[in-house]
Amino acid sequence: MIKTRLTELVGIKYPIIQAGMGPFPVTSLCIAAANAGCLGLCSTFGTTSRKSNPVVFEDFCRQAHADYSDDDVTIFKKMFTRIFNETKEGAVFGANVMVSAEVKENAMNVMKAIKEVRKDPEMAKRFKVLVTTAGDPVPWAGFVKEQGMIWMHVFPGVRTAARCKKAGVQVLIASGHEGGFHTAWQPVHSMTLLPDIVEKFSDENTLVCGTGGYCDSKTLAAALAMGADGVQMGTRFLATEESDFCDLWKKLVVDCPDGGTIIARGFVGPARWLRTPAAQVHAYNTAKDAPGSFVGVPDDFSKIPMDLLVAERTGIAATYNGDAEKAMAGAGECSQRISDLPRCEDMVKKIVAETEDIISGLKEKFVF
Ligand SMILES: Cc1cc2nc3c(=O)[nH]c(=O)nc-3n(C[C@H](O)[C@H](O)[C@H](O)COP(=O)(O)O)c2cc1C
Repeated sequence: MIKTRLTELVGIKYPIIQAGMGPFPVTSLCIAAANAGCLGLCSTFGTTSRKSNPVVFEDFCRQAHADYSDDDVTIFKKMFTRIFNETKEGAVFGANVMVSAEVKENAMNVMKAIKEVRKDPEMAKRFKVLVTTAGDPVPWAGFVKEQGMIWMHVFPGVRTAARCKKAGVQVLIASGHEGGFHTAWQPVHSMTLLPDIVEKFSDENTLVCGTGGYCDSKTLAAALAMGADGVQMGTRFLATEESDFCDLWKKLVVDCPDGGTIIARGFVGPARWLRTPAAQVHAYNTAKDAPGSFVGVPDDFSKIPMDLLVAERTGIAATYNGDAEKAMAGAGECSQRISDLPRCEDMVKKIVAETEDIISGLKEKFVF
């Protein structure tokens, strides 16, 4: 049993957070991960596709057990209620909410739904974590304090970590450039970022977790060795039996060869995609039309050619429709290390048992 400050603070069995992964609400995945003893997270990004990408929006509603005609706040409330109803006593879950300027209105709707469902004290006991991402945490401090939730924020660099500290975020999740889908303008990978954040920010009030590239016992053990309190895994959970991702998306992860991901412009900035034919074309167009993704300088969103954003939408819809030629699907570099679709509980138990072996075996393996 690996107890860390994360397992103690959140009240979970394992120091593993299952990442929120829009545009899917990952409702079933969140339920499975929470029931398996991890922190389960649902994501809240898919409703932004209501008009622009109906295939994505409708799938989001189906997974959330909501109706297409529901307003966004109702959809989120139904999703949280489904998770609460299908997780066992003691399981803990939370919501991943992107707070960047492009999706601020969506974030406000999610917060409204959170506030309403958490009026039920039983719900509040288990729906106790808010994970904000992709933006400045400071403006959300009042809301989180009022709700009394455990607050985590995902960020890619030291500057935002300092904003987290200022805002009173309790768990800093340092997101290395290996990570799946939305990634940073400046490419700093987990091996550099995690120890840097631990050294600069970890203290008695502030926990640090790593995300980006963590997918098994070796990487979990490495994160703990670098001083982390736990890890968040995205791509590893995407490729599980219970994951709500469509079949082609999962297949592209499982079949990913080495070097099988590529960066190209996504709606909220650079994004890491599986290297499908469509993603390769998209990366060339990004180099031409939004070069900031490659030189580490944020583009002015209003100046990006609309075609580039439409290509992203079209590629994602093709993945939902099973069209491998036109498909674009986000995933992390660690896809090349993933080749199965295990059940969450089996996977997590195996990862943690092997991590214990690695850590306890180190003393026998080396002479000190
Ligand atoms: C397909 C996919 C969708 C994602 N969507 C979101 C999202 O909606 N919001 C968010 O904050 N992060 C999102 N992420 C990032 C994950 O939350 C997590 O930080 C990342 O997957 C960690 O890296 P890993 O894939 O190497 O584990 C997504 C990741 C993937 C793979």
